[in-house]
Amino acid sequence: MIERYLRNTFRKILTKEDKLELNNNVPSLSVLKQKFRNINESGLYLHIPFCNQICPYCPYNKEIYKPDVAEKYTLAVKKEIDFYVEIIGDKPITSFYIGGGTPTMMLHNGLADIITYIFHRFNMQCGIHMESHPNHLSEENLDIIQSMGVEYISAGIESLQDRHLHRLGRPYKSDDVKKIISRVVDREFKCVNVDLMFALPGQTYKEIEQAGNALCDMGVDQIAAYPIFRFPYTKMGSNGVESAFNLPTIIKRRKMLHVLEKIFYNAGFERSSVWAFTRKGVEKYCSVTVPLYIGLGASGGSYLKDIFYLNTFNAGEYIKALLSGKPAFALSLDLSERMQMAGWLYWRIYETKFSKKDFYLRFHREFDNVYGKYLKPLKTIGFLQDDGQDIVLSDRGTFWLHAFEDMFSIDYISTLWGTSKHKPWPKKVVL
Ligand SMILES: C[S@@+](CC[C@H](N)C(=O)[O-])C[C@H]1O[C@@H](n2cnc3c(N)ncnc32)[C@H](O)[C@@H]1O
Ligand code: SF4
Repeated sequence: MIERYLRNTFRKILTKEDKLELNNNVPSLSVLKQKFRNINESGLYLHIPFCNQICPYCPYNKEIYKPDVAEKYTLAVKKEIDFYVEIIGDKPITSFYIGGGTPTMMLHNGLADIITYIFHRFNMQCGIHMESHPNHLSEENLDIIQSMGVEYISAGIESLQDRHLHRLGRPYKSDDVKKIISRVVDREFKCVNVDLMFALPGQTYKEIEQAGNALCDMGVDQIAAYPIFRFPYTKMGSNGVESAFNLPTIIKRRKMLHVLEKIFYNAGFERSSVWAFTRKGVEKYCSVTVPLYIGLGASGGSYLKDIFYLNTFNAGEYIKALLSGKPAFALSLDLSERMQMAGWLYWRIYETKFSKKDFYLRFHREFDNVYGKYLKPLKTIGFLQDDGQDIVLSDRGTFWLHAFEDMFSIDYISTLWGTSKHKPWPKKVVL
């Protein structure tokens, strides 16, 4: 109740909007062509919505893998690529991320075909960042992954304690995953990231410490350490199993992150985003890095300056639409300048540092004139440093500002993704 009140108040202050309403008034080919006239480069996101199993905590758009669906999905994604080539022409794609679900589910069934097609049809000026499942990282599969051109790879190991892996329903043991990761580290990737979930039910500080130290010893380049979040539309978030997943308080989560921060800094990592720590000198593994991007695949989202739109989440409907010659756009949100600025600030806080000059280059407005008065008190309480040009969040500021952002993101994701999961073509979604 209080949270909803705070959310509404801050949304109003930051965006000047009473509500954010996505609707099915989606953009046409000619509107997108027009928007791209003022865009010089774009990022590219590709969603692979297939998994071997459905993990009880996972909010992402996915379904159980079926070979015949994956085959049709490959054809549909290629149609979507053709659609965008008509819009983008040979403007450079400067960032490419493949996420899921589990992209490596399609390693032997379409993924290489899609990547080759992307490099054939778009003006690709970047490397590939890709998510993977630890159980898919055999020597043979790593050969395929590298031959496809993936240079930045991530594996969701989630925990290094068997009791937690078991409770999360992960299909491997801690010793297996250590061997798998050392196999990946031995390969010549530019960055090897592992995802670790912490603040798990019943997890102790000692276990956090052990996991942090073990990860540093494994020689990975980057660690993304997320406290586990509960999304209402997942099995873990639904009431039935809620009591089994009693999560630590926010204060305990902060302390646990602090334990990890200390270990990672001592081992030569620096913070590269709210939850990620990258070895000094390594180029970080991350999602699309340029401000504007197009999203391919079921639930792929696109952000083009003054519009955000989403594909249908349903893989079958996505395939049906594309194979009948139509785009699979389901929902769209027009963004006022104020909303664009709030979105920009959200992501810069996520990255924990930013330059005011970049804000000016993007919006032709002085950062201090728009947000100065809100940031001054945050500087006073030590949440950030401001040398007049750049803003850098402290570790304390990073945690609490992000906790504040979560008040929006968890609720928005739950509403938007939860609805899209149940209705392939919603009329509208109000956030
Ligand atoms: C798409 S998955 C990773 C790739 C692959 N599907 C796998 O499971 O190994 C992305 C990551 O998000 C994180 N994640 C998923 N659900 C989460 C939750 N409820 N709270 C916090 N992190 C979560 C996990 O660390 C997970 O590895
Ligand atoms: S955590 Fe990974 S494997 Fe599990 S359901 Fe989510 S995307 Fe699929």
